[in-house]
Amino acid sequence: MCGIMGYVGPGDAAPVVVDGLRRLEYRGYDSAGIAVLSDGAIKVAKAAGKLARLEELLEIAPVSGSVGIGHTRWATHGPPNDLNAHPHTDPSGRFVVVHNGIIENFHELRTELTAAGQTFTSDTDTEILVHLVALEYDGDLADAVRKAVARARGAYALVVMTAEEPDKIVAVRKTSPMVIGIGENETFLASDIPAVLHRTRRFKLIEDGEMVIITQAGAVIETIDGDPVDRDELVVDWDPGQAERGGYDHFMLKEIHEQPNAISETLQGRLETDGDVVLDGVDLTDEFVDNLPAVWLTACGTAYHAALVGKRLLERTLAVPVMIEYAHELRYSDPRILPGSLMIAVSQSGETADTLAAARLAKQKGARLMAITNVVGSSLAREADDVLYTRAGPEIAVASTKAYLTQLIALHLLALHLGQRRGTVDLELAIQLESNLAELPTAAQRVLEMEEQVIESAQTLADNFDNGVDDVYFIGRDLDYAVATEGSLKLKEISYLHSEAMPAGELKHGTLALITEGMPVIVVLTQTHVYEKTLSALQEVKARGAHVTAVVYEDDELIAEFADVVLRIPRVADLIAPVLAIIPLQLLAYHSARILGHDIDQPRNLAKSVTVE
Ligand code: AGP
Repeated sequence: MCGIMGYVGPGDAAPVVVDGLRRLEYRGYDSAGIAVLSDGAIKVAKAAGKLARLEELLEIAPVSGSVGIGHTRWATHGPPNDLNAHPHTDPSGRFVVVHNGIIENFHELRTELTAAGQTFTSDTDTEILVHLVALEYDGDLADAVRKAVARARGAYALVVMTAEEPDKIVAVRKTSPMVIGIGENETFLASDIPAVLHRTRRFKLIEDGEMVIITQAGAVIETIDGDPVDRDELVVDWDPGQAERGGYDHFMLKEIHEQPNAISETLQGRLETDGDVVLDGVDLTDEFVDNLPAVWLTACGTAYHAALVGKRLLERTLAVPVMIEYAHELRYSDPRILPGSLMIAVSQSGETADTLAAARLAKQKGARLMAITNVVGSSLAREADDVLYTRAGPEIAVASTKAYLTQLIALHLLALHLGQRRGTVDLELAIQLESNLAELPTAAQRVLEMEEQVIESAQTLADNFDNGVDDVYFIGRDLDYAVATEGSLKLKEISYLHSEAMPAGELKHGTLALITEGMPVIVVLTQTHVYEKTLSALQEVKARGAHVTAVVYEDDELIAEFADVVLRIPRVADLIAPVLAIIPLQLLAYHSARILGHDIDQPRNLAKSVTVE
């Protein structure tokens, strides 16, 4: 995810901006650059690679000025090279921009501008924006930016400077985050608070659809239509550790709360308005897609649980057999992988030794290898024929949360993309899924607001533990079972409670013997076609005195009779429900571990990335 910095003040902007970019490095990037206004001219320095390369350039050819912007770029349109690095200037060199996000009507605008005689020096969608701003400029930068973004569709945090008005920076936000830092006689812009927290503790948040004009004297916020906005200041009193964790007590909680934004990032530029799904990095021929004999999925741990959801999605949308196997099992088995099959290896890190070995085996057997991973340039990404990046941003907590959720989104996009190409996805279903996907960031945000009920359930688990009961059972059917497996893993890895997930129908084949008075049972109940079946299993555990926590849709009226704690999620298509249903279970794991006093971000015996067998 790209990072943005901006500065207007009495000091030299260049070191301030570079320092801010360094504090945004955690977001991941593949090139960096800055622009400053100096003696009525714009000076730009930018380079592919890490910030050290930019700093080398600045040492050889220093730039300085009291107004500056900077950017760390994570490539989307065009490879990560010097030309595609931000900032981008217009042909006159009098206007300069940095941008985070994706302009969806990039091709349309570029074709139009090219036909009008404009020339471009990069492959980026961003360069279109600076051309538009320069063309619209008529003595008022804010007005030109307003007119330029009115023509662009997509998501952006856009920051603009011009040599014509050398005392200010203009920025607009649509979807991509940005904050204002207010100092003594100096003002900052940044993608997030930690970038400038060592310089000021006073902030104003920029909301979606707002424009901000910053000068040395402060910031003026307006709506994109020009109406004034009165925004209260936020005084941030985080200690250095909290600053690193964005104000949260643990990285895991921060990452859980980052999920609405992570979903937006995964979706960005991939859902077209005409219903198509465009997957950058996936290059399958029609012949391959039409003749697929089978799809395979392989992964470990949480990624395997995402793949379990993927199996169901792909089965329903592709009408081909879809096989799934743990990577550590697959690598030592003799799988009947037919040449021409698609092997999808799912791995947050892209470095898990077993997943890499299973992926290589599939390739040897003639499968085409697709990676679903979060880490650009990871071993898995390099070895794969196709890569679908999840764009979750760096995940620090050992217990995976946002990486899982974005894996689900990536699998949804893939299922829709392939299903549409094969003509096997029902059009009505495709339209419903696409509109549900687009609404997921907002729906996920609503789920995050139910923390109180989750804490009630977590307290039960912790109290039980104090009374000598340290078992928990998770049940569900079909996709609800897949969610239950991940809910159970989350709980066990950080709360150290013994937890087991099983299909609800499996209970009476053995485990029911363990259900006694007060035993916690967590049930996921979102799949309409098996709802009543799961409810029967629930009645069986309830009859034996289980303490039931249920994850259901918000309009479920039946459940109150059967459950002690009810966790409600917005109603979506059943196929989408896992994305929302897992969030309360992540929070349940987090709060149980917190109440029990465990090391949440680094649970005992576990590593973030398992690079050995
Ligand atoms: C889950 O919280 C764990 N971190 C673990 O199960 C993890 O998902 C597994 O080791 C696979 O890692 P990967 O996604 O990096 O391949």
